[in-house]
Amino acid sequence: MLSLKFLFVFSLVLVYVAGQHDMHQHDMHMNHEQHRVNVAVYYESLCPDSRKFFTQQLYPSLQGNLSNYVNLTLIPYGKTTMEFKTNEYEFTCHHGPNECYGNKIQACALKLIDGGRKTEGLGFNRVSAGFINCLMDKSNKNTVPTNYPTKECAELNRVTNLNIIENCAGHTDGSNYLANLGSLTKAVQDPLKSVPTIVFNQKLKPEDNSLAQTNFVKALCSYINGPKPNECNGTRNIKMSFGILFIASIIVKVLH
Ligand SMILES: *[C@@H]1O[C@H](CO)[C@@H](O)[C@H](O)[C@H]1NC(C)=O
Ligand SMILES: *[C@@H]1O[C@H](CO)[C@@H](O)[C@H](O)[C@H]1NC(C)=O
Ligand SMILES: *[C@@H]1O[C@H](CO)[C@@H](O)[C@H](O)[C@H]1NC(C)=O
Repeated sequence: MLSLKFLFVFSLVLVYVAGQHDMHQHDMHMNHEQHRVNVAVYYESLCPDSRKFFTQQLYPSLQGNLSNYVNLTLIPYGKTTMEFKTNEYEFTCHHGPNECYGNKIQACALKLIDGGRKTEGLGFNRVSAGFINCLMDKSNKNTVPTNYPTKECAELNRVTNLNIIENCAGHTDGSNYLANLGSLTKAVQDPLKSVPTIVFNQKLKPEDNSLAQTNFVKALCSYINGPKPNECNGTRNIKMSFGILFIASIIVKVLH
């Protein structure tokens, strides 16, 4: 009888400890910076697979708690090639000259929206990510510069300096920004084998890259150190609490 009472109290303590563990995990969510995974996305503005990755994998996952765990770098260059000719870079893009325009618009947006700074408390800029996701969503291989959806996407995402961005894309600044992205791309793989290529923590791993194409959340979660957010496995904490309760009740029964 004494031991039964003891086991009852003991199992209550176990459940309490499990609950504290959940709360601890929740607290860790608020402490973003050191848990961020560096994610670099090497892609092209009019590439169908890049558009799919952006709109179906990357951007949706940046909406919830996981947005606190990503330090994002976007590199819209892909299989572009460049040559320095009489004072300026000339680019040849995978999906033609229209894509070069899209790449330059995005390169300029990344530099010029909020001066290229990240949104307070996040590992990326919310406005430029939304703007670029919209551009990826509303364009395709046949989009020409005159109907590239810059105006619509700027309005939807409250980009207030579209004129400056478009001006940048049409001039030397845009070429220089795109050339910088070219150097970053070449540093990872030259030439890039597949587009998009997703790199976690500065190291290109083919298996993580291919997992990210179809399950970005799973690939990202495998890199999160320490307590993982619920999105990584929504039911794990609840399962753990029930598991402990279950084991405690068996002990009580057996010893009764
Ligand atoms: C974010 O995390 C909290 C606490 O773990 C959870 O309650 C909430 O549902 C999560 N938000 C989303 C959008 O999943
Ligand atoms: C985030 O990524 C940038 C590159 O875009 C890098 O310079 C910076 O050091 C990273 N921040 C952290 C905390 O790793
Ligand atoms: C969550 O857990 C289940 C089984 O434990 C696993 O199959 C699934 O891939 C996990 N989800 C994520 C996003 O890691």
